Amino acid sequence: MRIDYLRVSVTDRCNLRCIYCNPLRDCDLIKRGEVLTFEEIHRIVRLFAECGVSKVRLTGGEPLVRKNIVALMDKLVTVVDIEELTLTTNGVLLEEVADELKSAGLNRVNVSIDSLDRGCYQTITGYDLLDYVKRGINKAIKVGLTPVKINVVVLKAINEQDITALAQLSVEMPIAVRFIEYCPTSKRAKPDRFFVPNSHVRKNIESRFGPLTATVGTKGSGPAVYFKTKDSAGSVGFISGKSEFFCQRCNRIRLTSDGKVRPCLYSAYLYDIKGLIRSGASDEQILALMKKIIAEKHRYTRLNSPAVGFSMRNVGG
Ligand code: 5AD
Ligand code: SF4
Repeated sequence: MRIDYLRVSVTDRCNLRCIYCNPLRDCDLIKRGEVLTFEEIHRIVRLFAECGVSKVRLTGGEPLVRKNIVALMDKLVTVVDIEELTLTTNGVLLEEVADELKSAGLNRVNVSIDSLDRGCYQTITGYDLLDYVKRGINKAIKVGLTPVKINVVVLKAINEQDITALAQLSVEMPIAVRFIEYCPTSKRAKPDRFFVPNSHVRKNIESRFGPLTATVGTKGSGPAVYFKTKDSAGSVGFISGKSEFFCQRCNRIRLTSDGKVRPCLYSAYLYDIKGLIRSGASDEQILALMKKIIAEKHRYTRLNSPAVGFSMRNVGG
């Protein structure tokens, strides 16, 4: 599998506290001096592009809380060979900056929204900010950060009753609503407390909208599998990290906000690219490490890596 997709976590900070994200206590946040600078991120992206990366996604934490994120985009769009620059956000600050992001050259956004019910949204995220997110999504569509994709983590007995309302969005609008299986990320997380298999989510959607049909190219290079309901403008997708095994079609690597490359979401093994950069390495030395990472990537899969001991806030999902 060609490794052509890099996810860059630009900060571990976030303006929400989703219950499934195992947020680190704030005192565990990465020290500012350890976070990659924009110059460092730009250099890493430029060099990974030389190794075949053509798609870059900015994640967090919440990428829009990183100061002056538009300036980072201005830099990244100048990297030749990057064909697609995208962003995953919780959407709270999206309305404010959507225009600027679009002008800076961002192609499209994925927005996380786990419920369309105000109270439930607050239960999950800790904040009463659902309206901001809805406005953010509408603005993103209006300025052309499209196709917009919505990420939904389904949690047992918490937002299961919202599944059909969220799927309905894909019927009315040309967006992809993706249901993501909960993934426990720490030893303390009780895996069964939240877990709902996507087979259950699919049944729920089909009992409301009728049978789902696979879309053309239903399996992209990523983990999502896409379907349409009858006459829908958009599609629904399933990312079944637990019930399916899709490591063999994984095309991605991840850069953490403190400058480590994570070859697999579940991998405990990290390559310290920032250490190399800050020790004064040349482009050639950094490229040599990147080639090694890409060559060794297939060694790391969910099955041989323990799914514990990381925070989505640093890795970016
Ligand atoms: N399990 C599954 N998905 C998660 N995300 C964050 N934490 C988890 C978890 N424990 C999702 C976010 C976001 C995406 C980047 O990762 O909701 O949509
Ligand atoms: Fe923030 Fe995303 Fe974690 Fe929610 S899941 S607390 S939006 S980083």
